[in-house]
Amino acid sequence: MSAFQFRTVPHLIIAAGAAGQVGVHVAHHFPAVRRALLVTDAGFLRTGLAEAPLRNLQVAGIEVHVFSEVQADPSEAIVLAGVAMAQMFHVELIIGLGGGSSLDVAKLIAVLAPGHQELAQLYGIGNVHGQRLPLVQLPTTAGTGSEVTPIAIVTTGATTKMGVVAPQLYADLAILDASLTLGLPSAVTAATGIDAMVHAIEAYTSRLQKNPLSDMLATQALSLLSGNLIRACHDGQNLAARQAMLLGAMLAGQAFANAPVAAVHALAYPIGGLFHVPHGLSNALVLPHVLRFNVSHAAPLYAELAAILRPGVTGSDEARAHALIDAMQEIAHATGIARTLREVGVAASDLDRLADEAMLQTRLLGNNPRLVTRGDARAIYAAAL
Ligand SMILES: NC(=O)c1ccc[n+]([C@@H]2O[C@H](COP(=O)([O-])OP(=O)(O)OC[C@H]3O[C@@H](n4cnc5c(N)ncnc54)[C@H](O)[C@@H]3O)[C@@H](O)[C@H]2O)c1
Ligand SMILES: [Fe+2]
Repeated sequence: MSAFQFRTVPHLIIAAGAAGQVGVHVAHHFPAVRRALLVTDAGFLRTGLAEAPLRNLQVAGIEVHVFSEVQADPSEAIVLAGVAMAQMFHVELIIGLGGGSSLDVAKLIAVLAPGHQELAQLYGIGNVHGQRLPLVQLPTTAGTGSEVTPIAIVTTGATTKMGVVAPQLYADLAILDASLTLGLPSAVTAATGIDAMVHAIEAYTSRLQKNPLSDMLATQALSLLSGNLIRACHDGQNLAARQAMLLGAMLAGQAFANAPVAAVHALAYPIGGLFHVPHGLSNALVLPHVLRFNVSHAAPLYAELAAILRPGVTGSDEARAHALIDAMQEIAHATGIARTLREVGVAASDLDRLADEAMLQTRLLGNNPRLVTRGDARAIYAAAL
């Protein structure tokens, strides 16, 4: 076995209803904290689900300021506005409450509020220096796993996204309360859930840093996610299915935080950037085509995963690998999300631009089990059209 390292968030609370106790948990962990910034988005705030956590924080004697300007695929301007608010109120703790967008912004505010660094200095791997503010994360989508990853993604131009990857972005505490996800619309549940399944699949086949712990997490994640996604889409109020999805997404996040994702994400990012397609849906659209491309190099691993989605599946490695791809496609179709790039506005004349952009995702492509050339990327997009 190769040597490996594994990191994750040190304290996880997984309990339906726990968001209403966030003040108790914060007071227990950070008894000196008096002022906090809650980072969320206006859409989530409108659901009313932030009220119970806000009340509990106030009961615990913590003055809370709410920054709700986060938008999907957050820009640098949004991050900087949050930092300014944190500094203006001299907050001592950051709480992320929302989907991946809010959690990513919360991470960057926690790093930047002390004023050691500028945002532009953080992009890339390992460029965060100095201490961040204490950070607590509460996900409200079951998808990105951002509550347990050391990654924050920022939209830096009209179409480009950049990542900050550093161990300081691991939160101090993550609280997984599925009651926060009950109101998620079916389409968002589907797209974010498939994103989480892709995290598990890509971590399990990650070329360089795959390890026994990430494998264990990825398989358990895939089992929970595949067993509950359709139920959660068709009956959004099913708390047990929602809690299983939230746990599955977190386990997948722990897996890919240590065994990073690859070509599905590399090819999905340009679709999100150029056509403003949600992250999970972009992944779902290219997923079967990237997996088919990879079969020649990853069939034995895909065959192992096939047994989770299709228990009792038999045949050669290749046959079982194709069973995994078929099973993933069936799940996506059952949720009713878009099936082709055309449906989200992509035309044949866009394929070259998409392929050019995908080739810039070198950090992700390097983890793919098979080398991806520009011609390969274009052919995969053409198949997904
Ligand atoms: N940090 C990481 O490791 C990581 C990994 C993958 C993706 N990302 C990033 O995360 C972002 C995507 O995050 P996401 O898919 O969770 O979506 P999101 O945070 O962008 O939210 C999507 C929409 O869902 C709404 N929403 C969220 N929770 C809700 C709830 N409980 N009820 C009703 N509506 C709700 C929001 O208001 C928003 O309109 C992208 O910016 C992506 O690049 C980060
Ligand atoms: Fe993702």
